[in-house]
Amino acid sequence: MARIFSGIQPSGELHIGNYLGAVKNWTHLQETHPGAIYCVVDYHAITGAYDPAVLRARRWGMAKSLLAAGIDPAKASLFMQSDVPEHTELSWIFTTITPLGDLERQTQFKDKSSKMESIPAGLLMYPVLQSADILLYRADSVPVGEDQVQHLELARDTSRKFNAKFGVEYFPEPKPLLTPTRRIMGLDGNAKMSKSLGNTVGLLESDEEIWQKLRPAMTDPQRVRKSDPGRPEVCNIFQLHKAFSAEPTVEHVRQQCETAGWGCMDCKKVLHEGMVQELTPIRRRAEALDAEPQRVLDALASGAATARGLAQETMRQVREIVGLDGLSLPA
Ligand code: TRP
Repeated sequence: MARIFSGIQPSGELHIGNYLGAVKNWTHLQETHPGAIYCVVDYHAITGAYDPAVLRARRWGMAKSLLAAGIDPAKASLFMQSDVPEHTELSWIFTTITPLGDLERQTQFKDKSSKMESIPAGLLMYPVLQSADILLYRADSVPVGEDQVQHLELARDTSRKFNAKFGVEYFPEPKPLLTPTRRIMGLDGNAKMSKSLGNTVGLLESDEEIWQKLRPAMTDPQRVRKSDPGRPEVCNIFQLHKAFSAEPTVEHVRQQCETAGWGCMDCKKVLHEGMVQELTPIRRRAEALDAEPQRVLDALASGAATARGLAQETMRQVREIVGLDGLSLPA
């Protein structure tokens, strides 16, 4: 059976972009793949400038909203990366077999470092740590979005190099499990939904807050008057309908848009109903966790215990393979 591993940056509470792009899929996979492992990658979050107090709050917010979104500690392990220090240990071993050129070629590194005066080495090593995250659990299936495909290629290269260098068949070659939902654009319709761009809807926002964001949200730019027929396939709101509304509603919306039967406001009202229906139970669970925050800590502690057990066993074997196991007296 495939071993699932995935990670998410501690960016604070989830928004509907990370929920639809990744986490909703994680909740399905925990049903079909018992023992799935989900990690809040806080070591990854310190490669840029940050405030420790803010990081702490965001780690908490992410853990809480993952549980609220439906990650079930009885089915999957959820933990903080920094609670399992073996991630950094394996990462070091991988840095010794990773060609510098492969790291410098990573698109994400090029994008981020091009804007920097002084580039922290950690930014370059980021994908090595990511490979270690996955291979520490010898995971072969990694549910991620398209933007992580290049990093997973590197993880496969690393796995192959390790096995070849030491003449073992130890690590698997992890493959991306691409999320069915296509990339969710921000409400401004211009860029990927992202917290730093302020174009998101938070997963835990109230019905009213959601409506205040949907009301002015970008639709088909060519549809100026209500009498203009719309083009659902280029409309961001329609993409959200596909994620939040029932199939017959999606078809009805498509038809009303193309025939200019409905205006964009009518369409948004129906989307709002669909969102409220899906997000209300999530918000209720978050409120329950706010009332009993110890449950968040308990979930993380039990996830970390499971992860640590697996990670320690992998590192015991890796140390043996690479010649860093305990010495004994010469015979
Ligand atoms: N780099 C991933 C992202 O930005 C996060 C991540 C870190 C990850 N380690 C991982 C994803 C391991 C999957 C598997 O989204």
